[in-house]
Amino acid sequence: MTTTTPEAVGTADAPFFPAPRSCPFSAPPRHTEFREAGGLHQVTIWDGSRHWLATRHADIRAVLAHPALSADVRNPDFPLVHSNQPEHEGGLFLRLDDPEHARLRQMLTKEFSVKRTRAMREKLLEITDELIDGMLAKGGPVDFIQDFALPLPSRAICLILGVPYEDHDLFQRHANAGTDLDVGHEERARLQHEAFAYYSALVERKRREPADDMISRLLADHTGPDGFALEMLPVLVGILVGAGHETTANMLGLGTVALLLNPDQRDRLRERPELAPSAAEEMLRYWSIVSTDPRRVALEDVEIGGHLIRKGEGVIVSLIAGNRDPRVFGAGEGECPADTLDIGRNARNHVAFGFGSHQCLGQNLARVEMQVAWPRLFERIPDLRLAVAEVQLDFKKNSIVYGLTSLPVTW
Ligand code: HEM
Repeated sequence: MTTTTPEAVGTADAPFFPAPRSCPFSAPPRHTEFREAGGLHQVTIWDGSRHWLATRHADIRAVLAHPALSADVRNPDFPLVHSNQPEHEGGLFLRLDDPEHARLRQMLTKEFSVKRTRAMREKLLEITDELIDGMLAKGGPVDFIQDFALPLPSRAICLILGVPYEDHDLFQRHANAGTDLDVGHEERARLQHEAFAYYSALVERKRREPADDMISRLLADHTGPDGFALEMLPVLVGILVGAGHETTANMLGLGTVALLLNPDQRDRLRERPELAPSAAEEMLRYWSIVSTDPRRVALEDVEIGGHLIRKGEGVIVSLIAGNRDPRVFGAGEGECPADTLDIGRNARNHVAFGFGSHQCLGQNLARVEMQVAWPRLFERIPDLRLAVAEVQLDFKKNSIVYGLTSLPVTW
């Protein structure tokens, strides 16, 4: 079974979700329409069920901060994004509600703290240089996704967790299948089992031979009755590996395209590398790569933006619509419009990492990776350019995380 196509189940009053970005650089047009009309709107998902969609920045924050809007995928009314999600994620901290979610999450936060991730900066710079050396040695054109955007975050998350990077073909395939909505039910289940077997063997190896890495620390300090169930550890590690590289890899590819297509912004960053932190925030806002999350289900009647969500109804948020909300971005005097890329903008209050208690655990790591990568890339390869015409760029059409399937570049 594959995911149902938009034409099959969407209706005029409740269009299919997720909606395509008809222009690769814009929010889905219906989400923009909904945002400008105000309020919450109905959308239809793959199984034909209808849920509410929040599109305004203020409504999105209100949804994600509301304690009666639950993240628990085991709730039968939860808006699932594909048929076999609960098998995979049910019971994991990220799909639980507080206080259980908070109790488990705090066992992981130290590993991804600002301090810990900043301490990785030198190592990330070293990896960045190695990858640039590799591209230069190969000679253009190269596929930037395979040669840079994927290996940088993959190697970083492998170092943190203690996953052997040599196995990247395997875990990148698992992660990619986890986000590609065109992968069918059986194939997804097969890959989930394959991934579970791989991470189970790895966890068992760490149990026998602990090392200075996150999996070993989790085994030593955070498993058992008060921590993570031992049998959930392989699932947790798989999710961290997937979330840790798939998202940032897409951001690195898309952000590089944005800089190549906006040479004024690229030159600004090259001349003022201290803009790297605001450039990273602006890229996160501008691209808003997470297309199908966050999703919640109402545990009681809740009012958001003057709209009543009844107990048992699902709510989805459109991060890109919220991050392009002209009420919040581009509203200041002299500020660029919300749909325009401006790496000097103060975009810190974007919702690309979500909001509230489930806000992205790996955000500090993702930030440092982007802050290190772009200035170094354009410093070392100043004449980096697309090796294909802009219209030939291959943007993902039906994925949980937006990105490029390949990015041919040369210099
Ligand atoms: C640019 C990169 C990234 C983006 C845009 C992103 C986006 C998001 C978003 C929107 C959420 C909220 C989901 C919700 O509320 O339901 C989230 C949660 C999460 N992210 Fe990320 N993420 C990124 C990188 C990472 C990295 C590098 C990791 C590495 C560990 C990671 C791990 C997680 C985890 C574990 C959660 C669940 C947190 C919780 O439920 O408490 N993410 N991310």
